[in-house]
Amino acid sequence: MADGATLRFGNKDTAFAVRSGTTGPDVIDIRKLYAQTGAFTFDPGFTSTASCESGLTFIDGDEGVLLHRGYPIEQLAEDSSFMEVSYLLLNGELPGKAELDRFSHTISRHTMLHEQLANFYRGFRRDAHPMAIMCGVVGALSAFYHDSTDISDPRQRMIASHRLIAKMPTIAAMAYKYSIGQPFIYPRNDLSYTHNFLRMTFGVPAEDYHVDPVVVRALDRIFILHADHEQNASTSTVRLAGSSGANPFACIAAGIACLWGPAHGGANEAALNMLREIGTPDRIPHYIARAKDKNDPFRLMGFGHRVYKNYDPRASVMQKTVREVLTALGVSDPVFDVALQLEEMALNDPYFIEKKLFPNVDFYSGIILSAMGFPTTMFTALFALARTVGWVAQWNEMISDPDQKIGRPRQLYTGPTRRDYVAVEAR
Ligand code: ACO
Repeated sequence: MADGATLRFGNKDTAFAVRSGTTGPDVIDIRKLYAQTGAFTFDPGFTSTASCESGLTFIDGDEGVLLHRGYPIEQLAEDSSFMEVSYLLLNGELPGKAELDRFSHTISRHTMLHEQLANFYRGFRRDAHPMAIMCGVVGALSAFYHDSTDISDPRQRMIASHRLIAKMPTIAAMAYKYSIGQPFIYPRNDLSYTHNFLRMTFGVPAEDYHVDPVVVRALDRIFILHADHEQNASTSTVRLAGSSGANPFACIAAGIACLWGPAHGGANEAALNMLREIGTPDRIPHYIARAKDKNDPFRLMGFGHRVYKNYDPRASVMQKTVREVLTALGVSDPVFDVALQLEEMALNDPYFIEKKLFPNVDFYSGIILSAMGFPTTMFTALFALARTVGWVAQWNEMISDPDQKIGRPRQLYTGPTRRDYVAVEAR
């Protein structure tokens, strides 16, 4: 580690402390920069800025590493469960058997929604995007659960976190049921988190619901892969909203709004739509040429990542899971062949090699979710469901941090300088 950093600005040298984490790049602590030099840093998109200290998730984008509380994502995806990963993210350690049972029990006891919230759904158009409904309904939770909005009380914070993790599947499934005009299905506490969600989504009151365990496991794994991802756009949004002291339900609604965008959570929907539009392998070169054309705004959706510049470790797990699900369901989807060939062609193309563009987690997830029966509009809602765990864990970490301050970036002002108002008649 370097002892410190010195900045020469004008003709004055200013020294700054350098801090080291347990792993990863050091940071130059510039909190006193403005006070000492009168200058700000300029970093739109935060490409070189650490916005907080965190002990949850570590990413080494050059090596393709993703760790949750130190555990590699590949191991968690292979051997753990979404409930266990949720406990890990929230509490810092893997649970013992009794702790995991208690945690799963607590989460299942919070899965029901206040009955009045069902009326909320009826106010939406049937063709509303599920993410529009999720933003509205999750934000509205703060109007229903007043007993867990005191953010200074750690117990209330934990109850709100459990409520959010537990109710998100119910909220997402109800958004889907509403869109297709089927009755809402109440949760069942004897089922696992993911099995219960599948039943609430695809079950009907008229008959029992059966699902292949391979499908349950695959969806659980998708949830694990999306559970947290360091200080990404939606997580930073949750932290920024929370930094003002806003209640957790409002903060998570803000995260959902951010996640909706096609450059973030909306990418799996966009990736599958793109693969369907390509349709057959012979059309791939045309789309690759478009992605490389500077004058064409088209991008290969599901490709590229702000942090991963080697490969996205979640994409490899996802590719394996596609095969398992398609085999279990006996589905042969031509879009999978298009995806495999597109990946191979892009990975051998100098443009993608040079810019270090690889498939990200969203490239394959859409194919799996579609095979399971989810419409594309639900994809981002599923992402929001899983990411809620990361959001609440990060939010809790922030509130517990004694150094936490309201987030308030500065700017490089390029507008007009002071000028006098002129009455409309004189303009
Ligand atoms: N297709 C074609 N070219 C691309 C792509 C792509 N998918 N992604 C980046 N590039 C090119 C850019 O045109 C740019 O080229 P230039 O240097 O000649 O101008 C260069 O690669 C760097 O791209 P940036 O946009 O500057 O990289 P950034 O780190 O800001 O963006 C992002 C990352 C937003 C993910 C981008 O790669 C993208 O738009 N990908 C498609 C959307 C997507 O899949 N998003 C999911 C992200 S993962 C997640 O949210 C779970």
